[in-house]
Amino acid sequence: MAEKLIAPSMLAADFGNLQRDTEMVNNSDADWFHIDVMDGHFVPNISYGMPVIQAIKKHATKPLDVHLMIEKPERYIEEFAKVGADIITVHYESTVHLHRTLTQIEDAGCKAGVVLNLTTPVSVLEDILPKCFMVLIMSINPGFGGQKFETITYDKVRKLRKMIDERGLDTRIEIDGGVTDKNIKQLVDAGADTFVAGSHVFRSNDQTKTIADLKALANS
Ligand code: DX5
Ligand code: ZN
Repeated sequence: MAEKLIAPSMLAADFGNLQRDTEMVNNSDADWFHIDVMDGHFVPNISYGMPVIQAIKKHATKPLDVHLMIEKPERYIEEFAKVGADIITVHYESTVHLHRTLTQIEDAGCKAGVVLNLTTPVSVLEDILPKCFMVLIMSINPGFGGQKFETITYDKVRKLRKMIDERGLDTRIEIDGGVTDKNIKQLVDAGADTFVAGSHVFRSNDQTKTIADLKALANS
Protein backbone atom coordinates (compact mmCIF):
# COMPACT_ATOMS: atom_id res chain seq x y z
CA MET A 1 0.00 0.00 0.00
CA ALA A 2 0.96 3.63 -0.49
CA GLU A 3 2.99 5.57 2.07
CA LYS A 4 0.80 6.83 4.90
CA LEU A 5 0.53 10.61 4.98
CA ILE A 6 -0.34 13.04 7.79
CA ALA A 7 -2.07 16.35 7.07
CA PRO A 8 -2.43 18.61 10.12
CA SER A 9 -5.60 20.72 9.89
CA MET A 10 -4.82 24.43 10.08
CA LEU A 11 -8.36 25.02 11.34
CA ALA A 12 -6.99 24.13 14.77
CA ALA A 13 -3.91 26.37 14.45
CA ASP A 14 -3.49 29.64 16.36
CA PHE A 15 -4.60 32.22 13.76
CA GLY A 16 -2.67 34.91 15.64
CA ASN A 17 0.50 32.89 15.07
CA LEU A 18 -0.12 31.44 11.63
CA GLN A 19 3.48 31.79 10.49
CA ARG A 20 4.76 30.02 13.62
CA ASP A 21 2.28 27.17 13.25
CA THR A 22 2.97 26.87 9.51
CA GLU A 23 6.69 26.58 10.26
CA MET A 24 5.99 23.97 12.91
CA VAL A 25 4.29 21.84 10.23
CA ASN A 26 7.18 22.54 7.79
CA ASN A 27 9.69 21.27 10.34
CA SER A 28 7.66 18.21 11.36
CA ASP A 29 7.08 14.76 9.85
CA ALA A 30 3.79 16.01 8.36
CA ASP A 31 3.27 15.63 4.61
CA TRP A 32 0.59 18.17 3.70
CA PHE A 33 -1.25 21.15 5.15
CA HIS A 34 -5.00 20.47 5.41
CA ILE A 35 -6.97 23.66 4.77
CA ASP A 36 -10.69 23.76 5.62
CA VAL A 37 -12.84 26.27 3.76
CA MET A 38 -16.40 26.71 5.13
CA ASP A 39 -19.07 29.03 3.79
CA GLY A 40 -21.82 29.04 6.43
CA HIS A 41 -24.19 27.39 3.93
CA PHE A 42 -22.91 23.93 3.11
CA VAL A 43 -21.81 23.66 6.74
CA PRO A 44 -23.05 25.83 9.61
CA ASN A 45 -19.64 27.35 10.29
CA ILE A 46 -17.50 29.96 8.47
CA SER A 47 -13.72 29.47 8.54
CA TYR A 48 -11.45 31.37 6.17
CA GLY A 49 -10.88 31.97 2.48
CA MET A 50 -8.31 33.01 -0.10
CA PRO A 51 -6.30 35.67 1.79
CA VAL A 52 -5.61 33.30 4.70
CA ILE A 53 -4.64 30.48 2.33
CA GLN A 54 -2.30 32.88 0.57
CA ALA A 55 -0.73 33.78 3.92
CA ILE A 56 -0.14 30.11 4.76
CA LYS A 57 1.24 29.46 1.26
CA LYS A 58 3.80 32.23 1.72
CA HIS A 59 5.55 30.20 4.42
CA ALA A 60 4.52 26.61 3.63
CA THR A 61 7.11 24.23 2.16
CA LYS A 62 4.65 21.33 1.80
CA PRO A 63 1.56 20.87 -0.42
CA LEU A 64 -1.75 22.51 0.50
CA ASP A 65 -4.67 20.04 0.64
CA VAL A 66 -7.70 22.31 0.34
CA HIS A 67 -11.02 20.85 1.54
CA LEU A 68 -13.93 22.91 0.22
CA MET A 69 -17.04 22.76 2.40
CA ILE A 70 -18.90 25.26 0.24
CA GLU A 71 -21.99 25.25 -1.98
CA LYS A 72 -21.24 25.18 -5.70
CA PRO A 73 -17.44 25.01 -5.35
CA GLU A 74 -17.15 25.29 -9.15
CA ARG A 75 -17.51 29.07 -8.71
CA TYR A 76 -14.13 29.38 -6.99
CA ILE A 77 -11.78 26.62 -8.21
CA GLU A 78 -9.48 28.88 -10.25
CA GLU A 79 -9.16 31.32 -7.35
CA PHE A 80 -8.16 28.58 -4.91
CA ALA A 81 -5.61 27.30 -7.41
CA LYS A 82 -4.24 30.81 -7.82
CA VAL A 83 -3.65 31.31 -4.08
CA GLY A 84 -1.66 28.08 -3.87
CA ALA A 85 -3.86 25.00 -3.54
CA ASP A 86 -2.07 21.82 -4.67
CA ILE A 87 -4.92 19.39 -4.02
CA ILE A 88 -8.57 20.47 -4.06
CA THR A 89 -11.34 18.25 -2.73
CA VAL A 90 -15.04 19.00 -3.21
CA HIS A 91 -18.02 17.39 -1.54
CA TYR A 92 -20.08 15.00 -3.62
CA GLU A 93 -23.12 16.67 -2.00
CA SER A 94 -22.10 20.22 -2.97
CA THR A 95 -21.85 20.18 -6.75
CA VAL A 96 -24.35 18.96 -9.34
CA HIS A 97 -21.91 18.20 -12.16
CA LEU A 98 -19.13 16.50 -10.24
CA HIS A 99 -17.24 15.29 -13.31
CA ARG A 100 -17.09 18.81 -14.70
CA THR A 101 -15.91 20.22 -11.37
CA LEU A 102 -13.10 17.64 -11.11
CA THR A 103 -12.02 18.49 -14.67
CA GLN A 104 -11.99 22.16 -13.70
CA ILE A 105 -9.67 21.35 -10.76
CA GLU A 106 -7.33 19.38 -13.06
CA ASP A 107 -7.35 22.15 -15.66
CA ALA A 108 -6.37 24.60 -12.92
CA GLY A 109 -3.25 22.47 -12.36
CA CYS A 110 -4.32 20.79 -9.12
CA LYS A 111 -4.97 17.22 -8.03
CA ALA A 112 -8.69 16.53 -7.66
CA GLY A 113 -10.55 14.66 -4.94
CA VAL A 114 -14.09 13.95 -3.80
CA VAL A 115 -15.35 14.16 -0.20
CA LEU A 116 -18.23 12.12 1.19
CA ASN A 117 -20.35 13.16 4.14
CA LEU A 118 -20.77 10.66 6.94
CA THR A 119 -23.93 9.07 5.54
CA THR A 120 -23.20 9.29 1.82
CA PRO A 121 -22.40 5.74 0.70
CA VAL A 122 -19.13 4.99 -1.10
CA SER A 123 -21.13 3.29 -3.87
CA VAL A 124 -21.92 6.73 -5.39
CA LEU A 125 -18.25 6.87 -6.46
CA GLU A 126 -18.43 3.83 -8.72
CA ASP A 127 -18.21 5.76 -12.00
CA ILE A 128 -16.10 8.73 -10.91
CA LEU A 129 -13.40 6.78 -9.04
CA PRO A 130 -10.85 6.62 -11.90
CA LYS A 131 -10.87 10.43 -12.01
CA CYS A 132 -10.17 10.84 -8.28
CA PHE A 133 -6.63 11.39 -7.04
CA MET A 134 -8.13 10.94 -3.60
CA VAL A 135 -11.41 10.24 -1.81
CA LEU A 136 -11.89 11.94 1.55
CA ILE A 137 -14.25 10.11 3.88
CA MET A 138 -15.62 12.38 6.61
CA SER A 139 -15.56 10.65 9.99
CA ILE A 140 -17.63 13.43 11.60
CA ASN A 141 -20.36 15.79 10.42
CA PRO A 142 -18.26 18.53 8.79
CA GLY A 143 -18.19 22.08 10.09
CA PHE A 144 -16.20 22.00 13.30
CA GLY A 145 -12.96 20.62 14.67
CA GLY A 146 -12.72 18.72 17.92
CA GLN A 147 -15.64 16.34 17.37
CA LYS A 148 -15.78 12.66 18.22
CA PHE A 149 -14.79 10.12 15.54
CA GLU A 150 -17.76 8.10 14.24
CA THR A 151 -17.01 4.38 14.04
CA ILE A 152 -19.29 3.80 11.01
CA THR A 153 -16.26 5.10 9.10
CA TYR A 154 -14.36 1.79 9.33
CA ASP A 155 -16.87 -0.09 7.23
CA LYS A 156 -16.98 2.67 4.61
CA VAL A 157 -13.18 2.59 4.34
CA ARG A 158 -13.17 -1.21 3.90
CA LYS A 159 -15.77 -0.97 1.12
CA LEU A 160 -13.92 1.83 -0.66
CA ARG A 161 -10.56 0.02 -0.38
CA LYS A 162 -12.18 -2.98 -2.09
CA MET A 163 -13.59 -0.80 -4.89
CA ILE A 164 -10.18 0.81 -5.49
CA ASP A 165 -8.24 -2.48 -5.43
CA GLU A 166 -10.72 -4.28 -7.69
CA ARG A 167 -10.20 -1.57 -10.29
CA GLY A 168 -6.41 -1.59 -9.92
CA LEU A 169 -6.40 2.13 -9.04
CA ASP A 170 -4.05 4.00 -6.71
CA THR A 171 -6.61 6.46 -5.35
CA ARG A 172 -5.75 7.73 -1.86
CA ILE A 173 -8.24 7.31 0.99
CA GLU A 174 -8.13 10.27 3.38
CA ILE A 175 -9.92 10.40 6.73
CA ASP A 176 -10.99 13.66 8.33
CA GLY A 177 -12.50 14.19 11.78
CA GLY A 178 -11.53 12.99 15.23
CA VAL A 179 -8.38 11.20 14.07
CA THR A 180 -6.06 10.39 17.00
CA ASP A 181 -3.40 7.90 18.05
CA LYS A 182 -6.29 5.74 19.30
CA ASN A 183 -7.91 5.08 15.92
CA ILE A 184 -5.26 5.70 13.24
CA LYS A 185 -3.92 2.13 13.21
CA GLN A 186 -7.40 0.67 12.90
CA LEU A 187 -8.06 3.04 9.99
CA VAL A 188 -4.86 1.88 8.28
CA ASP A 189 -5.95 -1.72 8.76
CA ALA A 190 -9.31 -0.87 7.15
CA GLY A 191 -7.44 0.53 4.12
CA ALA A 192 -6.97 4.29 4.66
CA ASP A 193 -3.63 5.94 3.87
CA THR A 194 -3.98 9.69 4.44
CA PHE A 195 -4.96 11.31 7.75
CA VAL A 196 -6.12 14.77 8.72
CA ALA A 197 -5.57 15.68 12.37
CA GLY A 198 -6.59 19.02 13.86
CA SER A 199 -7.19 19.22 17.59
CA HIS A 200 -5.20 16.09 18.38
CA VAL A 201 -2.10 17.84 17.01
CA PHE A 202 -2.64 21.49 17.88
CA ARG A 203 -4.02 20.93 21.39
CA SER A 204 -1.12 18.70 22.37
CA ASN A 205 1.84 19.96 24.40
CA ASP A 206 4.42 18.82 21.87
CA GLN A 207 2.87 19.24 18.42
CA THR A 208 5.93 18.09 16.48
CA LYS A 209 6.15 14.90 18.52
CA THR A 210 2.40 14.26 18.18
CA ILE A 211 2.76 14.44 14.38
CA ALA A 212 5.83 12.15 14.47
CA ASP A 213 3.94 9.64 16.64
CA LEU A 214 0.91 9.62 14.29
CA LYS A 215 3.15 9.15 11.28
CA ALA A 216 5.08 6.31 12.92
CA LEU A 217 1.88 4.59 14.07
CA ALA A 218 0.32 4.86 10.60
CA ASN A 219 3.42 3.41 8.93
CA SER A 220 4.05 0.70 11.54
C1 DX5 B 1 -14.13 19.66 9.92
C2 DX5 B 1 -12.87 19.71 9.12
C3 DX5 B 1 -11.70 19.01 9.72
C4 DX5 B 1 -11.30 19.46 11.11
C5 DX5 B 1 -10.78 18.24 11.79
O1 DX5 B 1 -15.24 19.88 9.14
O2 DX5 B 1 -13.06 19.17 7.83
O3 DX5 B 1 -10.59 19.05 8.83
O4 DX5 B 1 -10.34 20.46 11.12
O5 DX5 B 1 -10.51 18.55 13.11
P1 DX5 B 1 -10.30 17.43 14.21
O6 DX5 B 1 -9.08 16.64 13.82
O7 DX5 B 1 -10.13 18.22 15.45
O8 DX5 B 1 -11.54 16.57 14.24
ZN1 ZN C 1 -11.21 19.00 6.54
